[in-house]
Amino acid sequence: MIEEALAGPRPAYIYDLVTVRAQVRALRAALPAGTLIAYAMKANGHPAVLRAALDAADAVEVASAGELAAAPDGAAVIVSGPAKSDELLRGAVERGAVINVESLHELRRLGVAGRARICLRVNRAHPLLPGRHRMSGVPTQFGLAEDDVDEAVAVARRAGHDVAGVHLHAVSNNLDAAQHATFIADCVRWAQARGIGPVVNTGGGFGVDVTGRTHFDLHGLARDLGELRLGGMRLVVEPGRYVAAPAGWYATEVVDVKHSHGTAFAVVKGGTHHFRLPASWGYSHPFEVIPVEAWPWPWPRPEVVNTPVTVAGEQCNPRDVLSRDEPVGRLRAGDVLLFANTGAYGWEVAHHDFLRLDPPRFATLDERWPAPPAAPGGGRRR
Ligand SMILES: Cc1ncc(COP(=O)(O)O)c(C=O)c1O
Repeated sequence: MIEEALAGPRPAYIYDLVTVRAQVRALRAALPAGTLIAYAMKANGHPAVLRAALDAADAVEVASAGELAAAPDGAAVIVSGPAKSDELLRGAVERGAVINVESLHELRRLGVAGRARICLRVNRAHPLLPGRHRMSGVPTQFGLAEDDVDEAVAVARRAGHDVAGVHLHAVSNNLDAAQHATFIADCVRWAQARGIGPVVNTGGGFGVDVTGRTHFDLHGLARDLGELRLGGMRLVVEPGRYVAAPAGWYATEVVDVKHSHGTAFAVVKGGTHHFRLPASWGYSHPFEVIPVEAWPWPWPRPEVVNTPVTVAGEQCNPRDVLSRDEPVGRLRAGDVLLFANTGAYGWEVAHHDFLRLDPPRFATLDERWPAPPAAPGGGRRR
């Protein structure tokens, strides 16, 4: 099926909605019975991906007024974010969302917007998890200090809010399931000790190795969490990457092949304004070469054989690089490169409007190709 999708226009993101649903279901099977799963739409807010995630998840986690507006009608919503706008607070109250409150000041501002069901986001001291983007256990802009929790509970109750529990999201892309299970158990014990609950929201962070070399061990997670005694607490998780990353491919075309100071380059359409993660995280994203036999020009086709290749995009910017020194058998101008595991934080975090370059197309494996976006530079349209 991917071949059929590849026959469409490129560059393109291709999403597999079956995988989106399967990822949520696999996670559910590994987590304690009754765990509420809120899909973090920041990972991928494509409407079809969001709908598919919500087929299997219980709620959606949003972090802006824009995401709140995009949450499908009827979906249960959790609202996060360290600098919530008044618009977001008001909208969240109107929507009946659970709001993860990040500070005493935000709590007081929320009181102006209305009454809500809230969780207190706390940046507590805890053993650090592996992964990226640590958000708790270290100094960050997120959450309340542990010392402020009692005051926050009192302020919230005085304002008439329903304090449902705590929100303790800590990290992104943790590939170590054993440590994630330990973290979840530690969150539950901490909430029990503080007497705040019943909700213990441990956020996202379930990792995906884009190289495909390792896997987050869901069986191990299930085994370790099997020991967990919830004692009346209700676990909530907010996975984004784990749901969307393996469900997406970025496909693009090689425009040119050349050598520069001894390094082989494949220059492609698109680049980091479509798929920014390798540049922002400083890694090389692996790809597959899909040979294309057609060559319309009367001169020899530029190619490299059995050599490492650096894949650069179409921007006038040397940091527009998707992969560095990836070994290839044969790669020619006109071939297609397929980057797997690009369904999360790819398009979502890219600088779409730089140079007014064209956006990619978006397609899903179980739908036909949609009409291309109307105008160059209209990167946010889908
Ligand atoms: C509050 C919150 N919840 C959930 C997520 C999703 O995390 P992940 O995609 O690592 O699962 C994030 C990501 O930054 C977040 O900030």
